Amino acid sequence: NDVRHLMDLKSLVRSIPDYPKPGIVFRDITTLIADPRGLRAAVDELIWPFIGEKIDHVAGIEARGFILGGAVAHELGLGFVPIRKKGKLPWKTIGKEYQLEYGVDTVEIHADAIGKGDRVLLIDDLIATGGTADAAIELIHESGGETVAAAFVVDLPFLKGAARLRDKGVSVHTLLEFE
Ligand code: PRP
Ligand code: ADE
Repeated sequence: NDVRHLMDLKSLVRSIPDYPKPGIVFRDITTLIADPRGLRAAVDELIWPFIGEKIDHVAGIEARGFILGGAVAHELGLGFVPIRKKGKLPWKTIGKEYQLEYGVDTVEIHADAIGKGDRVLLIDDLIATGGTADAAIELIHESGGETVAAAFVVDLPFLKGAARLRDKGVSVHTLLEFE
């Protein structure tokens, strides 16, 4: 059943104190995606709200959002749009600087990846402050698209990222919470 499913998933996330900076507890999903049942369960849980919904693309955020987003796109029968860290995409890009729990960075999207009025599902492994996802949503918006929903395996609710996205009208779906 669902409850056992989610408890198993949570125990597959590895917690690493003081990474990448003192005071941060890093929630590492590499242990979850290395587990065959863990990866399957996580992707199944991520996709079910969106089966049969009108979505044009799945966008995933580098790096761990690529792994989960690729699997989600495949399962939903949709294409995948990468949102990458600065300087990695080969074609014309638009970019956005943002702050996250432990620093500042820039994400980019190909300028022609999203069409006018396209409906996008955004995927990442984890939402903390929501800075990264918010920047991705801005890029999708500037591309002419709309982020209709965002889904994450891990939520850190004390950093209020999910609330930040919901305030912008994005439907947010998360599987596990860590305090
Ligand atoms: C992590 C995580 C999210 C982001 C969440 O990625 O995968 O993308 O932080 O933080 P926020 O909600 O406070 O913005 P990270 O920037 O560490 O990059 P990586 O995936 O390339 O390791
Ligand atoms: N991204 C932002 N905060 C994080 C955390 N605590 N663990 C993993 N990824 C993160």
